[in-house]
Formats: sequence, C-alpha cells, structure tokens
Amino acid sequence: MKPTIAPFPAARPRRARQSPAIRGLVRENTLSTADLIWPVFVRDGVNEEEPVASMPGVMRRSVDLIAKAAKEAYGMGIPAICLFPYTDPSLKTEDCAEAWNPDNLCNRAIRAIKDAVPEMAVMTDVALDPYNINGHDGFVVDGEIVNDRTVEALVRMTLAQAEAGADIIGPSDMMDGRIGAMRQALEAEGHQRVMILSYAAKYSSGFYGPFRDAVGASGALTGDKNTYQMDPANSDEALRMIERDLTEGADMVMIKPGMPYLDICRRTKDTFGVPTFAYQVSGEYAMLQAAAQNGWLDGEKVMLESLLAFKRAGCDGVLTYFAPAVARYLNG
Ligand code: PBG
Repeated sequence: MKPTIAPFPAARPRRARQSPAIRGLVRENTLSTADLIWPVFVRDGVNEEEPVASMPGVMRRSVDLIAKAAKEAYGMGIPAICLFPYTDPSLKTEDCAEAWNPDNLCNRAIRAIKDAVPEMAVMTDVALDPYNINGHDGFVVDGEIVNDRTVEALVRMTLAQAEAGADIIGPSDMMDGRIGAMRQALEAEGHQRVMILSYAAKYSSGFYGPFRDAVGASGALTGDKNTYQMDPANSDEALRMIERDLTEGADMVMIKPGMPYLDICRRTKDTFGVPTFAYQVSGEYAMLQAAAQNGWLDGEKVMLESLLAFKRAGCDGVLTYFAPAVARYLNG
C-alpha cells in the first residue's frame, strides 16, 4: 500500500493576500480621520504664521489663523484639535499667573475656534511649563517641584479653560492627585460636561525636544523632569498610573510618547478597556520627516504605517502632527 502524503503546503495563507480586494476584506484594523486629534501651536499677533524649524511642516499660528486652520481641519473630518501656546517670555513668571488668565493665548484660541467651528472638540494642555520661568510643569521651591501647590494652580488653569469653552482637558503635568482635584472643581463649578483625557502614562522622554522648541520652553528648562515624568524602564507602573487616574475621574487616558511605547498601549487597552489614546510626539514626527526629506524613507508610507500601528496596539485614537496630511490622504 502506498503511504498517504500530506498535500504540500498544508496551508496557503498567501491566498488572503492575493489582491487589494481580498486584503481589504480580511484587514483587522483601519485608520480613519475620526481617530485624529491635531496638536497645534498658538502664537501672538494677527495673521501671523511661522514655521517650527525642528518640525518641518508645522507652524505656530496667531489666534485668527488657528481658527481658520481648525475650520479647515474639521472640514477634512478631523474631529478634535489640541492647543499649545507659545507664550511671550515676558509673561513667564515664577508664580505662573498667566496660566489661569482668562484672556491668555490658549483661552482666546479656544473661544475663536468655538466661534468658527462650534462642532469641533477643543482639547487643552494643563501644565505650568509654558508659563513657568524655569520651564517646569510645576512650581519649583528650593530646587524641588512641589506637588500640592502645583495642583491648586492646575485647578485654576483647568477652570479658566473650561470657562473659555474647552471640551477636553488634557493634564500633562504628572503631579499626584491632579485628576481628582480637577474633576471635583469641574463638578462644583457646573462643568460636568467637560471631559478629562489624562496624560496618565507620560514618560520622561528625549522625544519631546522639538516640542520644547516649538513652545519656547527648551531654553528655559533647568534640569530634567525625572521627578515627575515616568522612567522609560517601567511598564507595571504605567498600569498603576492609569488605574489611579481612572479612579480619580479621567474619562480617557493617554500614553506618551507613542511609537516606542506600543506595549503600554496594548497592556492598557487589554487591562482596562477604556478609551485609549497615544501621543505621537514631536520627536517621532521630526525623525520621520527628517528621514523623508533626505529621501531615506517614503514619508507617506511611514506616516500611515506608524499611525495604523497605534490602532493595532489597541488605541482608539492618536494625537499626531500628521493629522492634516493623513486626512488629505484618506480623503483621496
Ligand atoms: C508639557 C508637554 C510636553 C509635551 C506636551 N505637553 C513636553 C514636556 O513634557 O516637556 C510634549 C509633546 C511633544 O513632544 O510633541 N507638559
């Protein structure tokens, strides 16, 4: 009797890759404009626009042009924008009072965007660094970043932003207890609707360099942020931070930076099943753009691949400086 020989090969997974139609049918994840939050830099003046040298394609815009850009972005399907002010150095002080000035750049930009395109979700950043003479996210007393006094200031800043019309508050400061304090204050002041997207797992990263240029904080920063931002070596700690922020009242959580921390994104989504976002930060953007400009990478291909990777890692959305470029691509 002849031995039966198993057909070779036993399986042909390449069948599922044979054409765009079949690949589309079996695709597990997709990137859509609905996933995007666009971080932008706001500067003083009227009709002013200047490029950020270390972030090719990124601009600092005056409030009027931010409102215009927001409207265009919303028209392209981008649902949310996140504001970062470039504060005039003369407004940076040790007490950071500009942070909760109802008419500071950020709050003026919120109102202008809400006027121009009320449907768009406006997110803000809560931390003292744009206003602090020493570039830190918290008050510095005798060389130390003090926690509880900083939280009180962050609460004032939060309320000013909510008052101006912010939809999503993004605390990026990494102080202890800030989410609970902000949530309580928002409740007490009638801002129950305002969401908190906590920078819950924010690492002390070298990838923030170009951002600090963009907001004019790099020259100002004394020392590092290691006593409040997380050690890149840690993963379990990230889950503890996320659990804490959710318990204190965060609606959504963020992992930052993005690409080097996809493992944290996946663990977060698997463990908590909550709305999870990644921030593809300035250094990630700069490195892809620089390589593309040199012709070393296909810029469009790596942009899309890097963003799809966040979806695959479990993220519901991404903060990315590529947002308008991605939207243009996705809209054909
Ligand atoms: C400030 C803040 C930073 C970023 C967002 N908010 C920089 C920092 O922590 O030093 C970085 C964003 C980016 O690099 O794109 N609290």
